[in-house]
Amino acid sequence: MRGFRHTVTLAGGLVGSGLMSGCTGQQSALIPRGEDAAVQSTLFFVMLVGAVVLWLMLNGLFFYLTRVRPGAVPQRLANGMIIIGGLVVPAVLIGALLAWGLSILPDQQRSGDGLTIRVTGEQWWWRVEYWPEGAEAPIVSANEIRMPVGERVEFALGAKRVIHSFWIPALGGKMDMFPGRDTRVSLKATEPGVYRGQCAEFCGASHAWMAFAAEAMPPADFAAWLDHEASAAVAPSTPDAVAGAEIFAREGCGACHTVRGTDHIGQVGPDLTHVGARHTLGAGRLGATLEDFAAWISHTDELKPEVEMPAYGHLPEEEHRLLAAYLKGLQ
Ligand code: CUA
Repeated sequence: MRGFRHTVTLAGGLVGSGLMSGCTGQQSALIPRGEDAAVQSTLFFVMLVGAVVLWLMLNGLFFYLTRVRPGAVPQRLANGMIIIGGLVVPAVLIGALLAWGLSILPDQQRSGDGLTIRVTGEQWWWRVEYWPEGAEAPIVSANEIRMPVGERVEFALGAKRVIHSFWIPALGGKMDMFPGRDTRVSLKATEPGVYRGQCAEFCGASHAWMAFAAEAMPPADFAAWLDHEASAAVAPSTPDAVAGAEIFAREGCGACHTVRGTDHIGQVGPDLTHVGARHTLGAGRLGATLEDFAAWISHTDELKPEVEMPAYGHLPEEEHRLLAAYLKGLQ
């Protein structure tokens, strides 16, 4: 008995903690913060309630016929139950659900209100380009999505080498990203906040580490942020940052990374022009403190197995600190 109680408590705890971790809202499709996610969660709860009601009705009937009133059922009643309960009711219910489900599908493909964000899945990070309406060149960023609240934003999706999937559960449904083929999805955030996006298609060793922060901002704040994102990098100002910039140049980091406004124009890895202002590092792998920057530079391959960026663990610790000061200063 004690063992059983213990098992029940353990199971309850596991279910409880599972529910709790899914309920913080940052990455939950059931706590919608966008128009599309709201429609989907309504659809989910309607189906859930419907399924529970049907389950109760069927089991009630089963209980009634086996325990309360056992014995043969009159032929007419049996036929009626099969025709009504087995054919008419399921056909009507499933038909209605199908019609409703199909009716909300096109919403996800609706065109946006002007801003297009092109996102490309790389191994294992996100190349991000903002195309405001009428723009001739994109504003390049990486590993983070920012979007204005209350506006439908169009996402043009692609991939470099393998299939990835773009998903911000709190805002709406997922969409696959293919090499050599464009897919589109549009999302409209209804509440400001920082949400978590996650690659939802297995894409290699570090698939689970391929995440990003998605921040929905009031439109005026977003416009100001985008203006700043378009600007060149600020020059390093503290002695540490100046020394870090020299190490960055000496180690050839600019062969892979761009820092706009400098000689570093590499296209292989994420754009670092404003990397210090992002919420996360390594595509959602770490936070964005100075310590996180130093950890990423020195233990890249341990933090993200098979990543293309080599770890710079061979550099002295002091140089990790200086590089971190430079990168964190790229606000
Ligand atoms: Cu990218 Cu999984």
